[in-house]
Amino acid sequence: MPSNCKPAAMFAIPVAIITSIVAIVMGLQSIEPAQAKSVYQSVVDAKGNISLPKVDFRKDWTVLGTWAIDYDKKDGAKGFHTVYAEPGAVAYFRANGKFPDQAVIVKELRNAKTDALTTGTASWPTDLVGWFVMVKDAKGRFATHGLWGDGWGWAFFKASAPEKTATKDYKTECLGCHVPAQKDDWLYLRAYPVLKK
Ligand code: HEC
Repeated sequence: MPSNCKPAAMFAIPVAIITSIVAIVMGLQSIEPAQAKSVYQSVVDAKGNISLPKVDFRKDWTVLGTWAIDYDKKDGAKGFHTVYAEPGAVAYFRANGKFPDQAVIVKELRNAKTDALTTGTASWPTDLVGWFVMVKDAKGRFATHGLWGDGWGWAFFKASAPEKTATKDYKTECLGCHVPAQKDDWLYLRAYPVLKK
């Protein structure tokens, strides 16, 4: 038996191969949204009812973008719409060009104040109005539930009543307004630079 055929040397190669496979698999998993499943489970119940994520998304999630809205089309922004998703969902989007199944997107609405600052007419977000939530559903899980369809769960929550959605029928309360974004899976992607590398 040649000296390099000791058991230790014979195991070295398979161990190296297994280690590499494990490393590759773990590397692939790192682009999967690690937190997505647990957040999904706290947001969607077995019947498809949707509740607000009970996490500190302002601190722990990624801001996709903020919309400043001048409702009167003159005096600066009257509202701010800031859109959040989990970091894992953002990483998945960057790699795959779409959000993963069970991804949760939150759009927070706030009123705004506007004033003449040294930069110009500046507007900034103030008190809460509510949250729009979309939950990706690639499997058509809740076909008979009024808040699910077209690849998403859809819900709105008033700041004054965050425990329960104010929405009953996404087709009449959400979808029509999102038709211009249909080709992008119903999302207004243009304001979310973080989704591009
Ligand atoms: C009056 C039209 C209108 C209605 C009704 C509406 N949306 Fe939207 N939604 C928009 C527009 C336009 C944007 C992006 C610009 C903005 O926020 O003003 C948007 C953005 C969003 C976003 C951020 C992600 C994205 O698509 O870019 C979420 C989440 C969202 N809407 C969910 C909902 C849900 C859920 C409902 C129903 C409960 C709903 N929307 C109803 C027009 C609407």
